[in-house]
Amino acid sequence: MHDSLMNTTFCVRTFGCQMNKHDSERVCGMLEALGSELVEDIEHADIVVFMTCCVREAADVRLLGQAASLKNIPLREGSPLAKRIVAVGGCIGQRDGEKLTKELPHLDVVFGTHNLASLPRLVREAIEQGGHHVEVLDESLDFPTSLPTAREHAWAAWLPITIGCNNFCTYCIVPYVRGREKSRPLEDIANEARGYVLSGVKEITLLGQNVNSYGRDLYGKPRFADVLDAVSASGVERIRFATSHPKDLTDEVIAKFAELPNLMPALHLPVQSGSNRILAAMNRRYTREHYLELVRKVREACPDIALSTDIIVGFPGETEEDFQQTYDLVREVGYHQVFTFIYSKREGTPAAEMPDDTPREVIQERFDRLVDLVQEGAWQANQPDAGTIVPVLVEGASKRDEHVLSGRSPKNQTVHFRLPDGAGADDWSGRTVNVRVTEAKTWYLSGELEGDPSEAGR
Ligand code: SAH
Ligand code: SF4
Ligand code: F3S
Repeated sequence: MHDSLMNTTFCVRTFGCQMNKHDSERVCGMLEALGSELVEDIEHADIVVFMTCCVREAADVRLLGQAASLKNIPLREGSPLAKRIVAVGGCIGQRDGEKLTKELPHLDVVFGTHNLASLPRLVREAIEQGGHHVEVLDESLDFPTSLPTAREHAWAAWLPITIGCNNFCTYCIVPYVRGREKSRPLEDIANEARGYVLSGVKEITLLGQNVNSYGRDLYGKPRFADVLDAVSASGVERIRFATSHPKDLTDEVIAKFAELPNLMPALHLPVQSGSNRILAAMNRRYTREHYLELVRKVREACPDIALSTDIIVGFPGETEEDFQQTYDLVREVGYHQVFTFIYSKREGTPAAEMPDDTPREVIQERFDRLVDLVQEGAWQANQPDAGTIVPVLVEGASKRDEHVLSGRSPKNQTVHFRLPDGAGADDWSGRTVNVRVTEAKTWYLSGELEGDPSEAGR
């Protein structure tokens, strides 16, 4: 059956977090293994897969809009199929299952977060039999690690170390759509990392909803610090991880920022709020003081580390005073990047039942004030890099000018630089080059290639 989707084309539209993006790489890997060809545009695709997110309401609305508009796009000429197959997976698929086929009658396939591997079979059934094919499981049978993966970049890989989440922050839908936390055996992680290095991967990003609680469900209780050691030993050039829950960030993990040369100096540490009252209502299980102490320790271990965070504005019952504490915390920490979200009510979560009477305009005004501060802080945080030389892992050329390349610094800043005249514009992605930073802006650094371009990054 390995060629059962031969001569078909498919495209995948992905919403949501890195975990979903990684799942999409597996969807691509599975469909390609069956002979289907990945295309960019929906118009040219015989099979369209939506990998959905429901963490905030906006994501739901986007899916419904995009999926509904598909009805009006004719199937490409030359397609071997009688009609286009539309599949919805990811977190909305998991949450809504059968119900989705009522809202979107032209859906053919619905699958969830626990049964990615069923997608090819469901697609085949839909092609052969017509009708709706819905399959959603309550729990993952095991880690979906044996599925083929088609990675977006040859030089970067996501490596999931846990799936699911046990934290039940009161606003969050993720534990309901991703299930209980499961850790992957340390040996598997180490093997996968070594395999990646052999195949030329330069950057590995370890993934989990809360990487810091890794290993509690495994024999011998290996900890996240052990994962960092094992992945570091693979010799990969750059290691990153997401996400860290402040309640579980240990001194051992913090020490790794000083010990492991390939662990990049960047930490995403979501705080959500600076008010202890709101943190308690969110069930985050740490205080503002504990969080600030973590920041102090992290900076002691790695003085030049870039910190980023997530913040929710307008959680039910948030007062001006609560918000002010968040604002002050953001100013005090000095983040490189802050992802700001307006609270979005998710049915089925405890926060959805909490009294919520703050007017929309008040929340919007707080949000705007915070965004201004975040921009000012990001600009400030980048200034010390002006005039320095930073190693940049090149991602690719700018769409507008092939002589302008972009990549990432160790601190995960976007860096743009121009190639000198005469340097070839192609195949720079995946190389690490030194860039002299001439200007530090709010959201990027710009500079010039340092040294001989023919030698750079080889
Ligand atoms: N597991 C990760 C993040 C998961 S969701 C963690 O705990 O850090 C990513 C971010 O979305 C969260 O950090 C939170 O800031 C935001 N978020 C989650 N649920 C939300 C909701 N109901 N409304 C607004 N933002 C939300
Ligand atoms: Fe959601 Fe909290 Fe789990 Fe993150 S830790 S996924 S915010 S429940
Ligand atoms: Fe969204 Fe699901 Fe990730 S709800 S944030 S795609 S775990």
